[in-house]
Amino acid sequence: MFIFALMRLKPWSRAALLGVVVALILMFTTNLHAVSRKRTRWSSKERVLLRSLTLKSLGAIPRDPSNRVADDSTAASFGQLLFFDARLSSTGTVSCATCHMAEKNFQDGRPVGRGVGEGSRRTMPIAGTSRSPWLFWDGRADSQWEQALGPLENPVEHGGDRTQYARLIAVEYRTRYESIFGRLPSLGTLPFRAGPVGDTVRAAAWARIPGARRDEISRVYANIGKAIAAYERRIDFAPARFDRYVEAELASDTLSSPSLFTPDEEAGLRLFIGKASCVNCHNGGLFSDGHFHNTGVAQSRATALPDSGRTSGVLKALAGEFSCTSRYSDATAQDCAELRFAVAEGPELVRAYKPPSLRNVVDRAPYMHAGQLATLDRVLEHYSSAPRAPLGRSELKPLHLSWSERRQIIAFLGTLTGPLTAPPGFLAAPANHTVE
Ligand code: HEC
Ligand code: HEC
Repeated sequence: MFIFALMRLKPWSRAALLGVVVALILMFTTNLHAVSRKRTRWSSKERVLLRSLTLKSLGAIPRDPSNRVADDSTAASFGQLLFFDARLSSTGTVSCATCHMAEKNFQDGRPVGRGVGEGSRRTMPIAGTSRSPWLFWDGRADSQWEQALGPLENPVEHGGDRTQYARLIAVEYRTRYESIFGRLPSLGTLPFRAGPVGDTVRAAAWARIPGARRDEISRVYANIGKAIAAYERRIDFAPARFDRYVEAELASDTLSSPSLFTPDEEAGLRLFIGKASCVNCHNGGLFSDGHFHNTGVAQSRATALPDSGRTSGVLKALAGEFSCTSRYSDATAQDCAELRFAVAEGPELVRAYKPPSLRNVVDRAPYMHAGQLATLDRVLEHYSSAPRAPLGRSELKPLHLSWSERRQIIAFLGTLTGPLTAPPGFLAAPANHTVE
């Protein structure tokens, strides 16, 4: 019928019609081609998720209203001196940097930290912790400055005490301290070694000091923490290859543009945000939700006592002598929402720990809160089999990952390696850190 009608047309109109048909066919196929070129590696939902994992998504470092010198650069430089000063210890040999080594991502590569004695947990990285609402594996501190005061008195870490530290400040750092925090109290008649934590002799000496004097010393102690926090606060992650990859993927909307990832890395990322659901807990620009999960990690051999994780961590945070709501905090009660509304009990807190950031993770073996897993292969084996928790219930389900899937996830984790960023000179010991 169509052919018959075509035959009856004049030759020129037959040619014109054929031209239209050919043009239509051409338009249709090129259009198809364009549609296929528009296809991307990631769906629009995935692209939103990928963007949320980049450092850019984090924005500025949040304020710390509990520390009025948090953003004071003089306090930060003072904090750097203190961070590297081994005289802040009972033996004169341990500083924060003994365990948090600047050249090792502020960690020590050991299963558990070693100061004046051996601890029972693994040293955590420091970069990015100004963004963490809770500090320590069990979140028993609610600010960086409160956190810093823990190891200083801990008998197996720095092992020193409050009157010793106040004296060190008075002798070595008086001008610097007073320019930031105001006058130091007089220390004349105070015992040389006294503090509420530690051995009974020092605790008894502390108890004999009148309350108002104790308060003055504790204020100096709190200020040591605040200066150290001002320093730590400025140590952050700089973009890694992952951030550059996402930026390039979001900028280009075609599959034909070259990928900054190898096929394995890309497959690993797809598993991480998909089938393996790592992103349920390792999310946001730091790849940590900052909250607490029981993932069935075995009890550490470093301690005989069962470690209940967040169950005891939250109680310690609520009772913290230097918490956001304490007398040593600069915050108003309204500023301390995290602490005031913290979940204080529940079966989900048992042996729940904070997921550390996964940035730079490939360079930080061994893994988990007491270095229980020596390599990333062991970590992936753990997530693949999801063992029963020694206490409480693990949130994990077995993923049954194949060997190549595990390799791909590890390849992807390698793309999270990047440099740290901080003001000039902050990523190493200060040039002359023993004199004022
Ligand atoms: C003996 C080794 C050692 C020393 C010394 C030490 N730390 Fe730590 N640090 C650790 C360990 C171990 C943890 C985890 C402890 C826990 O959760 O129970 C930790 C945790 C931290 C965290 C928490 C990070 C996070 O994501 O929650 C910060 C911050 C930190 N330390 C800073 C410091 C500062 C500041 C000093 C010096 C005042 C210091 N540390 C001294 C071993 C040490
Ligand atoms: C239910 C929450 C959750 C899920 C899902 C999850 N993690 Fe974790 N991750 C954690 C917690 C909590 C820790 C710390 C546990 C501990 O120390 O006991 C952790 C620790 C890690 C560590 C060790 C980091 C370090 O510095 O010690 C790596 C690596 C890791 N996770 C990778 C992954 C990968 C890969 C996946 C997906 C296969 C995944 N995680 C899924 C919560 C989770």
